[in-house]
Amino acid sequence: MVAPSSISTAELAEKINKHLGLKFEDKNSAWSVLDSPISGRGVFAARDIAPGEIILRDTALLAGPKASDASILNICVVCCALLQESDHEKIMCPKGCAMPVCNTCADSETHATECELLRHWKPKDGKNINFHCVRLISIVRCFFLGDLQRQLLYALQANSDKYYRAELQKAMAGFEQFPKDRKMLEYFYRTICIFNTNSFEGDCKVNGAEVRVRALFPLASLINHQCTPNADHYFENAQTIIITATRPIKQGEEIVTSYTKLLWSTLTRKMFLFMTKHFMCSCQRCLDPTENGTYLSALFCRAQGCKGIVIPVQTKTLQPDWRCTTCESVFPHSKMARYQDFALNTINNRINKGSVAEMITFINDMCPRFCPSSNYVLVEAKLNVIWRMSRPTTEEFNEDHLKCKERYKEEIVALLEKLGAGDCTLKKLITEEIL
Ligand SMILES: C[S@@+](CC[C@H](N)C(=O)[O-])C[C@H]1O[C@@H](n2cnc3c(N)ncnc32)[C@H](O)[C@@H]1O
Ligand SMILES: [Zn+2]
Ligand SMILES: [Zn+2]
Ligand SMILES: [Zn+2]
Ligand SMILES: [Zn+2]
Repeated sequence: MVAPSSISTAELAEKINKHLGLKFEDKNSAWSVLDSPISGRGVFAARDIAPGEIILRDTALLAGPKASDASILNICVVCCALLQESDHEKIMCPKGCAMPVCNTCADSETHATECELLRHWKPKDGKNINFHCVRLISIVRCFFLGDLQRQLLYALQANSDKYYRAELQKAMAGFEQFPKDRKMLEYFYRTICIFNTNSFEGDCKVNGAEVRVRALFPLASLINHQCTPNADHYFENAQTIIITATRPIKQGEEIVTSYTKLLWSTLTRKMFLFMTKHFMCSCQRCLDPTENGTYLSALFCRAQGCKGIVIPVQTKTLQPDWRCTTCESVFPHSKMARYQDFALNTINNRINKGSVAEMITFINDMCPRFCPSSNYVLVEAKLNVIWRMSRPTTEEFNEDHLKCKERYKEEIVALLEKLGAGDCTLKKLITEEIL
Protein backbone atom coordinates (compact mmCIF):
# COMPACT_ATOMS: atom_id res chain seq x y z
CA MET A 1 0.00 0.00 0.00
CA VAL A 2 1.31 3.49 -0.85
CA ALA A 3 0.72 5.77 2.15
CA PRO A 4 -1.51 8.78 1.56
CA SER A 5 0.26 12.14 1.56
CA SER A 6 1.01 13.44 5.06
CA ILE A 7 -2.12 15.45 5.62
CA SER A 8 -3.93 15.18 8.94
CA THR A 9 -7.50 13.88 9.03
CA ALA A 10 -8.71 17.28 10.31
CA GLU A 11 -6.95 19.12 7.46
CA LEU A 12 -8.42 16.68 4.96
CA ALA A 13 -11.93 17.23 6.39
CA GLU A 14 -11.45 20.99 6.03
CA LYS A 15 -10.38 20.69 2.40
CA ILE A 16 -13.36 18.42 1.63
CA ASN A 17 -15.66 21.05 3.15
CA LYS A 18 -14.16 23.66 0.86
CA HIS A 19 -14.46 21.38 -2.18
CA LEU A 20 -18.14 20.67 -1.49
CA GLY A 21 -18.83 24.25 -0.42
CA LEU A 22 -17.97 25.34 -3.93
CA LYS A 23 -20.70 23.09 -5.26
CA PHE A 24 -23.30 22.39 -2.57
CA GLU A 25 -24.56 24.38 0.41
CA ASP A 26 -25.12 22.00 3.32
CA LYS A 27 -26.41 23.67 6.45
CA ASN A 28 -27.32 20.52 8.36
CA SER A 29 -24.34 18.32 7.55
CA ALA A 30 -24.88 14.70 8.60
CA TRP A 31 -21.26 13.59 8.30
CA SER A 32 -17.81 14.18 9.74
CA VAL A 33 -14.42 12.76 8.75
CA LEU A 34 -12.46 11.11 11.58
CA ASP A 35 -9.90 8.36 12.15
CA SER A 36 -11.62 5.00 11.93
CA PRO A 37 -11.31 1.84 14.07
CA ILE A 38 -11.93 -0.14 10.85
CA SER A 39 -9.06 1.32 8.82
CA GLY A 40 -7.37 4.70 8.28
CA ARG A 41 -9.86 7.53 7.91
CA GLY A 42 -13.64 7.04 7.82
CA VAL A 43 -16.90 8.97 7.57
CA PHE A 44 -19.06 9.21 10.71
CA ALA A 45 -22.61 10.33 11.48
CA ALA A 46 -22.52 13.87 12.91
CA ARG A 47 -26.14 13.47 14.07
CA ASP A 48 -28.82 10.79 14.11
CA ILE A 49 -29.77 9.83 10.56
CA ALA A 50 -33.07 8.23 9.50
CA PRO A 51 -33.32 5.39 6.95
CA GLY A 52 -33.64 6.73 3.42
CA GLU A 53 -32.09 10.07 4.35
CA ILE A 54 -29.38 11.49 2.10
CA ILE A 55 -26.17 11.45 4.16
CA LEU A 56 -24.01 13.26 1.67
CA ARG A 57 -23.73 14.40 -1.91
CA ASP A 58 -20.21 14.47 -3.36
CA THR A 59 -18.83 15.82 -6.59
CA ALA A 60 -16.18 13.99 -8.64
CA LEU A 61 -12.49 14.78 -8.88
CA LEU A 62 -12.09 12.41 -11.83
CA ALA A 63 -14.79 10.67 -13.85
CA GLY A 64 -15.36 8.82 -17.08
CA PRO A 65 -17.07 5.87 -18.74
CA LYS A 66 -16.44 2.49 -17.12
CA ALA A 67 -14.67 1.11 -20.23
CA SER A 68 -13.62 -2.17 -18.64
CA ASP A 69 -13.83 -4.07 -21.90
CA ALA A 70 -14.48 -3.57 -25.58
CA SER A 71 -18.23 -4.27 -25.28
CA ILE A 72 -19.16 -0.98 -23.57
CA LEU A 73 -17.35 1.67 -25.50
CA ASN A 74 -19.89 3.70 -27.41
CA ILE A 75 -20.07 6.35 -24.70
CA CYS A 76 -18.90 9.96 -25.05
CA VAL A 77 -15.82 10.28 -22.81
CA VAL A 78 -16.85 13.84 -21.87
CA CYS A 79 -20.60 13.86 -21.09
CA CYS A 80 -20.98 10.03 -20.92
CA ALA A 81 -23.97 10.10 -23.31
CA LEU A 82 -24.61 6.91 -25.21
CA LEU A 83 -23.47 7.27 -28.84
CA GLN A 84 -26.01 5.62 -31.10
CA GLU A 85 -23.66 4.95 -34.00
CA SER A 86 -22.14 1.48 -33.86
CA ASP A 87 -19.57 2.34 -36.52
CA HIS A 88 -16.49 3.32 -34.47
CA GLU A 89 -15.08 5.64 -37.10
CA LYS A 90 -18.18 7.85 -36.96
CA ILE A 91 -18.06 8.42 -33.20
CA MET A 92 -14.34 9.16 -32.89
CA CYS A 93 -13.23 12.70 -32.15
CA PRO A 94 -12.82 14.41 -35.56
CA LYS A 95 -9.66 16.11 -34.30
CA GLY A 96 -7.90 12.76 -33.94
CA CYS A 97 -7.45 12.19 -30.16
CA ALA A 98 -8.82 8.63 -30.63
CA MET A 99 -11.61 9.08 -28.05
CA PRO A 100 -15.33 8.53 -28.71
CA VAL A 101 -17.12 11.88 -28.27
CA CYS A 102 -20.56 13.26 -29.12
CA ASN A 103 -20.88 16.12 -31.60
CA THR A 104 -21.46 18.71 -28.87
CA CYS A 105 -18.48 17.65 -26.75
CA ALA A 106 -16.14 17.38 -29.75
CA ASP A 107 -16.16 21.19 -29.96
CA SER A 108 -16.40 21.89 -26.23
CA GLU A 109 -13.85 23.73 -24.12
CA THR A 110 -13.89 20.86 -21.61
CA HIS A 111 -12.57 18.48 -24.23
CA ALA A 112 -10.19 20.92 -25.96
CA THR A 113 -7.31 20.64 -23.45
CA GLU A 114 -7.39 16.87 -23.02
CA CYS A 115 -7.85 16.44 -26.78
CA GLU A 116 -4.71 18.47 -27.42
CA LEU A 117 -2.68 16.49 -24.86
CA LEU A 118 -3.79 13.13 -26.28
CA ARG A 119 -2.99 14.27 -29.84
CA HIS A 120 0.42 15.39 -28.64
CA TRP A 121 1.07 11.77 -27.55
CA LYS A 122 0.11 10.62 -31.07
CA PRO A 123 -2.55 7.87 -30.85
CA LYS A 124 -1.54 4.92 -33.03
CA ASP A 125 -5.08 4.35 -34.30
CA GLY A 126 -7.47 7.30 -34.53
CA LYS A 127 -10.23 5.25 -36.18
CA ASN A 128 -10.88 2.46 -33.71
CA ILE A 129 -11.60 2.64 -30.01
CA ASN A 130 -8.89 1.22 -27.78
CA PHE A 131 -10.55 0.55 -24.42
CA HIS A 132 -7.23 0.70 -22.52
CA CYS A 133 -6.81 4.28 -23.76
CA VAL A 134 -10.45 5.20 -23.02
CA ARG A 135 -9.96 3.88 -19.48
CA LEU A 136 -6.92 6.15 -19.12
CA ILE A 137 -8.88 9.32 -19.91
CA SER A 138 -10.22 9.60 -16.33
CA ILE A 139 -6.60 9.44 -15.10
CA VAL A 140 -5.29 11.95 -17.65
CA ARG A 141 -7.78 14.45 -16.26
CA CYS A 142 -5.62 14.73 -13.10
CA PHE A 143 -3.53 17.24 -15.11
CA PHE A 144 -6.43 19.66 -15.33
CA LEU A 145 -7.44 19.77 -11.65
CA GLY A 146 -7.22 22.93 -9.57
CA ASP A 147 -4.87 23.04 -6.55
CA LEU A 148 -7.50 22.06 -3.96
CA GLN A 149 -8.78 19.13 -5.99
CA ARG A 150 -5.21 17.94 -6.68
CA GLN A 151 -4.41 18.02 -2.95
CA LEU A 152 -7.56 16.04 -2.22
CA LEU A 153 -6.75 13.48 -4.90
CA TYR A 154 -3.25 12.78 -3.58
CA ALA A 155 -4.49 12.61 0.03
CA LEU A 156 -6.40 9.44 -0.84
CA GLN A 157 -5.15 5.93 -0.16
CA ALA A 158 -3.34 4.17 -3.02
CA ASN A 159 -3.11 0.36 -3.01
CA SER A 160 -0.33 -0.93 -5.30
CA ASP A 161 -0.94 -3.84 -7.64
CA LYS A 162 0.95 -5.28 -10.60
CA TYR A 163 -2.29 -5.26 -12.59
CA TYR A 164 -2.52 -1.49 -12.18
CA ARG A 165 0.98 -1.20 -13.67
CA ALA A 166 -0.14 -3.45 -16.55
CA GLU A 167 -3.19 -1.18 -17.03
CA LEU A 168 -0.82 1.76 -17.57
CA GLN A 169 1.45 -0.18 -19.92
CA LYS A 170 -1.48 -1.31 -22.09
CA ALA A 171 -2.75 2.27 -22.39
CA MET A 172 0.77 3.55 -23.17
CA ALA A 173 1.02 1.03 -26.02
CA GLY A 174 -1.84 2.88 -27.74
CA PHE A 175 0.32 5.98 -28.32
CA GLU A 176 3.48 6.63 -30.36
CA GLN A 177 4.81 9.27 -28.00
CA PHE A 178 3.48 8.60 -24.52
CA PRO A 179 5.80 10.29 -21.96
CA LYS A 180 8.53 7.83 -20.93
CA ASP A 181 10.00 9.91 -18.13
CA ARG A 182 10.20 7.79 -14.94
CA LYS A 183 8.80 10.46 -12.65
CA MET A 184 5.88 11.03 -14.98
CA LEU A 185 5.15 7.30 -15.19
CA GLU A 186 5.19 7.01 -11.39
CA TYR A 187 2.77 9.94 -11.24
CA PHE A 188 0.41 8.14 -13.63
CA TYR A 189 0.82 4.88 -11.75
CA ARG A 190 0.03 6.49 -8.40
CA THR A 191 -3.08 8.11 -9.87
CA ILE A 192 -4.22 4.77 -11.29
CA CYS A 193 -3.67 3.16 -7.86
CA ILE A 194 -5.72 5.90 -6.19
CA PHE A 195 -8.46 5.57 -8.79
CA ASN A 196 -8.67 1.78 -8.42
CA THR A 197 -8.58 1.90 -4.61
CA ASN A 198 -11.29 4.49 -4.23
CA SER A 199 -13.47 4.88 -7.29
CA PHE A 200 -17.19 4.10 -7.39
CA GLU A 201 -18.92 2.43 -10.27
CA GLY A 202 -22.57 2.79 -11.08
CA ASP A 203 -25.31 3.24 -13.61
CA CYS A 204 -26.71 6.65 -14.32
CA LYS A 205 -29.05 8.13 -16.86
CA VAL A 206 -27.55 10.50 -19.41
CA ASN A 207 -29.99 11.93 -21.96
CA GLY A 208 -32.47 9.21 -20.96
CA ALA A 209 -30.12 6.27 -21.63
CA GLU A 210 -28.50 4.20 -18.88
CA VAL A 211 -24.71 4.17 -18.95
CA ARG A 212 -22.08 2.76 -16.60
CA VAL A 213 -19.65 5.28 -15.18
CA ARG A 214 -16.64 5.23 -12.86
CA ALA A 215 -15.70 8.20 -10.75
CA LEU A 216 -13.56 9.28 -7.83
CA PHE A 217 -15.02 11.37 -5.00
CA PRO A 218 -12.92 12.83 -2.18
CA LEU A 219 -15.46 12.36 0.63
CA ALA A 220 -17.25 9.19 -0.50
CA SER A 221 -13.77 7.62 -0.98
CA LEU A 222 -13.24 7.75 2.77
CA ILE A 223 -16.18 5.43 3.47
CA ASN A 224 -14.98 2.06 4.73
CA HIS A 225 -16.50 -1.31 3.88
CA GLN A 226 -18.68 -3.66 5.95
CA CYS A 227 -20.53 -6.66 4.52
CA THR A 228 -23.76 -5.52 6.19
CA PRO A 229 -23.57 -1.81 5.52
CA ASN A 230 -25.72 1.00 6.88
CA ALA A 231 -25.49 3.08 3.70
CA ASP A 232 -25.71 2.69 -0.06
CA HIS A 233 -24.84 4.83 -3.06
CA TYR A 234 -26.25 5.86 -6.39
CA PHE A 235 -25.14 8.25 -9.11
CA GLU A 236 -27.29 11.36 -9.47
CA ASN A 237 -25.38 12.05 -12.67
CA ALA A 238 -21.95 11.08 -14.01
CA GLN A 239 -20.27 13.67 -11.74
CA THR A 240 -22.36 13.40 -8.57
CA ILE A 241 -22.78 10.58 -6.09
CA ILE A 242 -25.38 10.35 -3.34
CA ILE A 243 -24.88 8.27 -0.20
CA THR A 244 -28.12 7.34 1.59
CA ALA A 245 -28.83 5.63 4.92
CA THR A 246 -30.32 2.14 4.62
CA ARG A 247 -30.91 1.85 8.38
CA PRO A 248 -31.23 4.27 11.30
CA ILE A 249 -27.71 5.54 12.09
CA LYS A 250 -26.88 6.95 15.51
CA GLN A 251 -24.72 10.03 15.95
CA GLY A 252 -21.07 8.94 16.16
CA GLU A 253 -21.60 5.64 14.27
CA GLU A 254 -19.31 5.01 11.30
CA ILE A 255 -21.00 5.19 7.92
CA VAL A 256 -20.15 2.09 5.89
CA THR A 257 -21.07 0.80 2.45
CA SER A 258 -20.46 -2.58 0.85
CA TYR A 259 -17.78 -2.81 -1.85
CA THR A 260 -19.23 -6.19 -2.93
CA LYS A 261 -22.62 -7.54 -3.90
CA LEU A 262 -24.75 -8.01 -0.78
CA LEU A 263 -25.86 -11.53 -1.61
CA TRP A 264 -22.47 -13.06 -2.34
CA SER A 265 -21.23 -15.78 0.01
CA THR A 266 -18.59 -14.95 2.61
CA LEU A 267 -15.73 -16.61 0.72
CA THR A 268 -16.70 -14.90 -2.53
CA ARG A 269 -16.82 -11.50 -0.82
CA LYS A 270 -13.55 -12.11 1.02
CA MET A 271 -11.77 -13.22 -2.15
CA PHE A 272 -13.10 -10.23 -4.12
CA LEU A 273 -12.09 -7.75 -1.40
CA PHE A 274 -8.65 -9.33 -1.08
CA MET A 275 -7.99 -9.35 -4.85
CA THR A 276 -9.41 -5.93 -5.70
CA LYS A 277 -9.25 -3.87 -2.50
CA HIS A 278 -6.31 -5.61 -0.81
CA PHE A 279 -7.79 -6.29 2.60
CA MET A 280 -9.39 -9.14 4.55
CA CYS A 281 -12.77 -8.16 5.95
CA SER A 282 -13.45 -9.23 9.54
CA CYS A 283 -16.88 -7.69 10.08
CA GLN A 284 -19.60 -9.42 12.14
CA ARG A 285 -21.13 -11.06 9.08
CA CYS A 286 -17.76 -12.43 7.97
CA LEU A 287 -17.23 -13.96 11.43
CA ASP A 288 -20.58 -15.81 11.46
CA PRO A 289 -20.35 -19.12 9.53
CA THR A 290 -24.16 -19.15 9.09
CA GLU A 291 -24.17 -15.52 7.81
CA ASN A 292 -27.08 -14.50 10.04
CA GLY A 293 -28.79 -17.78 9.25
CA THR A 294 -28.87 -17.14 5.48
CA TYR A 295 -26.48 -20.03 4.66
CA LEU A 296 -25.47 -18.30 1.42
CA SER A 297 -22.34 -20.51 1.23
CA ALA A 298 -24.08 -23.84 1.91
CA LEU A 299 -23.42 -26.91 -0.23
CA PHE A 300 -24.79 -30.45 0.12
CA CYS A 301 -22.91 -32.87 2.37
CA ARG A 302 -20.74 -35.38 0.47
CA ALA A 303 -20.98 -38.09 3.16
CA GLN A 304 -22.87 -41.16 1.98
CA GLY A 305 -26.55 -41.11 2.93
CA CYS A 306 -26.41 -37.67 4.55
CA LYS A 307 -28.80 -35.04 3.25
CA GLY A 308 -27.36 -32.23 5.40
CA ILE A 309 -25.61 -29.07 4.33
CA VAL A 310 -21.96 -28.10 4.82
CA ILE A 311 -20.68 -24.61 5.59
CA PRO A 312 -17.15 -23.18 5.99
CA VAL A 313 -16.10 -23.41 9.64
CA GLN A 314 -13.11 -21.09 9.93
CA THR A 315 -13.95 -17.52 9.18
CA LYS A 316 -10.53 -15.87 8.93
CA THR A 317 -8.98 -17.82 6.07
CA LEU A 318 -9.64 -18.05 2.35
CA GLN A 319 -9.23 -21.85 2.49
CA PRO A 320 -11.37 -23.02 5.41
CA ASP A 321 -12.46 -26.53 6.32
CA TRP A 322 -16.17 -27.15 5.79
CA ARG A 323 -18.42 -29.02 8.23
CA CYS A 324 -21.80 -30.71 7.82
CA THR A 325 -24.43 -29.21 10.14
CA THR A 326 -26.15 -32.64 10.34
CA CYS A 327 -23.49 -35.41 10.49
CA GLU A 328 -20.56 -33.12 11.39
CA SER A 329 -18.28 -34.63 8.72
CA VAL A 330 -15.42 -32.26 7.85
CA PHE A 331 -14.30 -31.69 4.26
CA PRO A 332 -11.15 -29.89 3.03
CA HIS A 333 -11.66 -26.60 1.20
CA SER A 334 -10.18 -27.98 -2.05
CA LYS A 335 -13.01 -30.52 -2.33
CA MET A 336 -15.78 -28.03 -1.53
CA ALA A 337 -14.28 -25.37 -3.81
CA ARG A 338 -14.46 -27.83 -6.74
CA TYR A 339 -18.08 -28.55 -5.86
CA GLN A 340 -18.91 -24.82 -5.56
CA ASP A 341 -17.23 -24.16 -8.94
CA PHE A 342 -19.29 -26.95 -10.50
CA ALA A 343 -22.55 -25.42 -9.18
CA LEU A 344 -21.44 -21.95 -10.25
CA ASN A 345 -20.50 -23.01 -13.78
CA THR A 346 -23.57 -25.21 -14.28
CA ILE A 347 -25.94 -22.44 -13.23
CA ASN A 348 -24.07 -19.55 -14.87
CA ASN A 349 -23.91 -21.43 -18.17
CA ARG A 350 -27.72 -21.36 -18.24
CA ILE A 351 -28.17 -17.72 -17.26
CA ASN A 352 -29.22 -15.54 -20.21
CA LYS A 353 -29.29 -18.61 -22.48
CA GLY A 354 -32.71 -19.80 -23.55
CA SER A 355 -36.02 -18.45 -22.37
CA VAL A 356 -36.95 -17.25 -18.89
CA ALA A 357 -39.47 -20.10 -18.70
CA GLU A 358 -36.66 -22.62 -19.28
CA MET A 359 -34.55 -20.92 -16.63
CA ILE A 360 -37.41 -21.17 -14.11
CA THR A 361 -37.81 -24.89 -14.80
CA PHE A 362 -34.05 -25.36 -14.41
CA ILE A 363 -33.99 -23.45 -11.10
CA ASN A 364 -37.03 -25.25 -9.66
CA ASP A 365 -36.50 -28.79 -10.94
CA MET A 366 -32.80 -29.34 -11.68
CA CYS A 367 -30.86 -27.13 -9.27
CA PRO A 368 -32.25 -28.62 -6.03
CA ARG A 369 -30.59 -31.91 -7.04
CA PHE A 370 -27.08 -30.48 -6.72
CA CYS A 371 -27.33 -27.13 -4.93
CA PRO A 372 -29.10 -26.10 -1.68
CA SER A 373 -31.69 -23.38 -2.30
CA SER A 374 -29.85 -21.02 0.07
CA ASN A 375 -26.62 -21.08 -1.99
CA TYR A 376 -25.77 -17.62 -3.35
CA VAL A 377 -25.37 -18.85 -6.95
CA LEU A 378 -28.95 -20.04 -6.97
CA VAL A 379 -30.04 -16.78 -5.33
CA GLU A 380 -28.23 -14.86 -8.11
CA ALA A 381 -30.01 -17.01 -10.72
CA LYS A 382 -33.37 -16.11 -9.18
CA LEU A 383 -32.43 -12.43 -9.22
CA ASN A 384 -31.58 -12.80 -12.88
CA VAL A 385 -35.07 -14.20 -13.57
CA ILE A 386 -36.63 -11.25 -11.69
CA TRP A 387 -34.62 -8.72 -13.77
CA ARG A 388 -35.44 -10.47 -17.05
CA MET A 389 -39.16 -10.62 -16.25
CA SER A 390 -39.24 -6.97 -15.17
CA ARG A 391 -37.70 -5.56 -18.33
CA PRO A 392 -39.49 -5.18 -21.67
CA THR A 393 -39.50 -8.55 -23.42
CA THR A 394 -41.37 -10.35 -26.18
CA GLU A 395 -41.61 -13.50 -24.05
CA GLU A 396 -45.06 -14.24 -22.63
CA PHE A 397 -45.44 -15.52 -19.09
CA ASN A 398 -48.18 -17.71 -17.65
CA GLU A 399 -49.59 -17.54 -14.14
CA ASP A 400 -47.07 -20.07 -12.78
CA HIS A 401 -44.15 -17.99 -14.06
CA LEU A 402 -45.55 -14.86 -12.44
CA LYS A 403 -46.09 -16.74 -9.17
CA CYS A 404 -42.48 -17.95 -9.28
CA LYS A 405 -41.24 -14.41 -9.81
CA GLU A 406 -43.22 -13.26 -6.74
CA ARG A 407 -41.89 -16.18 -4.68
CA TYR A 408 -38.28 -15.43 -5.69
CA LYS A 409 -38.81 -11.78 -4.75
CA GLU A 410 -40.18 -12.74 -1.33
CA GLU A 411 -37.27 -15.13 -0.75
CA ILE A 412 -34.68 -12.48 -1.60
CA VAL A 413 -36.36 -9.77 0.47
CA ALA A 414 -36.41 -12.24 3.41
CA LEU A 415 -32.68 -12.89 2.90
CA LEU A 416 -31.93 -9.16 2.92
CA GLU A 417 -34.01 -8.87 6.07
CA LYS A 418 -32.01 -11.63 7.79
CA LEU A 419 -28.77 -9.92 6.77
CA GLY A 420 -30.01 -6.65 8.26
CA ALA A 421 -29.55 -4.89 4.93
CA GLY A 422 -32.37 -2.39 5.60
CA ASP A 423 -33.69 -0.26 2.74
CA CYS A 424 -30.79 -1.02 0.41
CA THR A 425 -30.92 -0.26 -3.32
CA LEU A 426 -31.34 -3.97 -4.11
CA LYS A 427 -34.48 -4.19 -1.93
CA LYS A 428 -35.88 -1.06 -3.57
CA LEU A 429 -35.17 -2.48 -7.01
CA ILE A 430 -36.93 -5.72 -6.17
CA THR A 431 -39.95 -4.31 -4.38
CA GLU A 432 -40.52 -1.10 -6.31
CA GLU A 433 -39.18 -2.40 -9.62
CA ILE A 434 -37.35 0.81 -10.39
CA LEU A 435 -35.37 -0.91 -13.12
C1 LIG B 1 -11.95 3.55 -0.30
S1 LIG B 1 -10.71 3.38 0.91
C2 LIG B 1 -11.54 3.75 2.41
C3 LIG B 1 -10.88 4.91 3.16
C4 LIG B 1 -9.60 4.56 3.86
N1 LIG B 1 -9.87 4.00 5.17
C5 LIG B 1 -8.70 5.81 3.98
O1 LIG B 1 -8.18 6.07 5.07
O2 LIG B 1 -8.48 6.49 2.97
C6 LIG B 1 -10.55 1.64 0.83
C7 LIG B 1 -9.43 1.06 1.68
O3 LIG B 1 -9.74 1.20 3.07
C8 LIG B 1 -9.39 0.01 3.78
N2 LIG B 1 -10.63 -0.64 4.26
C9 LIG B 1 -11.90 -0.29 3.96
N3 LIG B 1 -12.78 -1.10 4.62
C10 LIG B 1 -12.05 -1.95 5.35
C11 LIG B 1 -12.39 -3.07 6.22
N4 LIG B 1 -13.64 -3.41 6.46
N5 LIG B 1 -11.36 -3.75 6.78
C12 LIG B 1 -10.07 -3.42 6.52
N6 LIG B 1 -9.70 -2.41 5.70
C13 LIG B 1 -10.66 -1.68 5.12
C14 LIG B 1 -8.69 -0.91 2.79
O4 LIG B 1 -7.30 -0.67 2.86
C15 LIG B 1 -9.23 -0.43 1.45
O5 LIG B 1 -8.37 -0.70 0.37
ZN1 LIG C 1 -20.62 14.37 -25.03
ZN1 LIG D 1 -10.61 14.97 -29.19
ZN1 LIG E 1 -17.20 -8.64 6.10
ZN1 LIG F 1 -23.51 -34.73 6.54
